[in-house]
Amino acid sequence: MSFSDFSTEGFACRVVDLKKEFVLKSETVRALRGVTFDVPTGDYVAIMGPSGSGKSTLLNLLGCLDQPTSGSLWLGDDDVAKMTDDQLADIRSRRIGFVFQAYNLIQQLTVVENIQVPLFYQGKPLSREQHQRCLDLANMVGLGERLDHRPTQLSGGQQQRVAIARSLINDPFFILADEPTGNLDSRTTEEILQLFERLNNEGRTIILVTHEDEVSKRAKRVIRLKDGRLQWDRTNSQEVRDEAARYAIENMPVEV
Ligand SMILES: Nc1ncnc2c1ncn2[C@@H]1O[C@H](COP(=O)(O)OP(=O)(O)OP(=O)(O)O)[C@@H](O)[C@H]1O
Ligand SMILES: [Mg+2]
Repeated sequence: MSFSDFSTEGFACRVVDLKKEFVLKSETVRALRGVTFDVPTGDYVAIMGPSGSGKSTLLNLLGCLDQPTSGSLWLGDDDVAKMTDDQLADIRSRRIGFVFQAYNLIQQLTVVENIQVPLFYQGKPLSREQHQRCLDLANMVGLGERLDHRPTQLSGGQQQRVAIARSLINDPFFILADEPTGNLDSRTTEEILQLFERLNNEGRTIILVTHEDEVSKRAKRVIRLKDGRLQWDRTNSQEVRDEAARYAIENMPVEV
């Protein structure tokens, strides 16, 4: 595999009795109440569940954006719960691609500059190869003609594609996406899902959060959370995945 692989035992991550509490002035919110599951390398998981069930909290922990209150989160051989802030930042910047629901693009920067942002956190000047890689990624997500546009000059779907290109700039082993198709029309949703399928076929592990059945059916596996607990964990058969892809394409609105 060409991208940074930090799994030595065939697992992208292993989550054991993971808990996350938010302590507020008047109360403690128990967002995750003990969640356990494994994600083999190359898996493609959709996380579903009602609003407030803990999906984003879980994804943020998997992405090392936050630390658990208790329990273990293994990324390869490393227990994230025991890592220092520097180690977490290193994992985040080199091994994980995170796609935020709200895109989180920097408004003052162009498409190509936004894609470059994670490289700046590595503190080194950009190499020619890295610059070329930004251009290649912009092309891959269909924005080769929009390199100098700023986010306000792009549609929601285009902004989401910039966010996905940015998440891929470090050639991540692990792609985490919080409702990546939440605000998109069916055609753009399909483009993003096909992009994820391609990335997964290359061997990258994907975990995405979604509210949409049509999106979750495209994953290899669906985990459902309820009240901070894992309610169920199911595998999608290849027939279910193929059928969902066929249905999406057949029901695509005609382009005008
Ligand atoms: N930073 C925080 N401080 C306090 N409470 C929080 C914080 N983040 C999340 N919560 C609470 O934790 C619970 C789980 O929130 P989370 O954002 O994980 O839900 P979700 O499943 O992603 O919901 P949605 O589908 O609406 O995005 C909620 O009750 C939420 O209010
Ligand atoms: Mg959420």
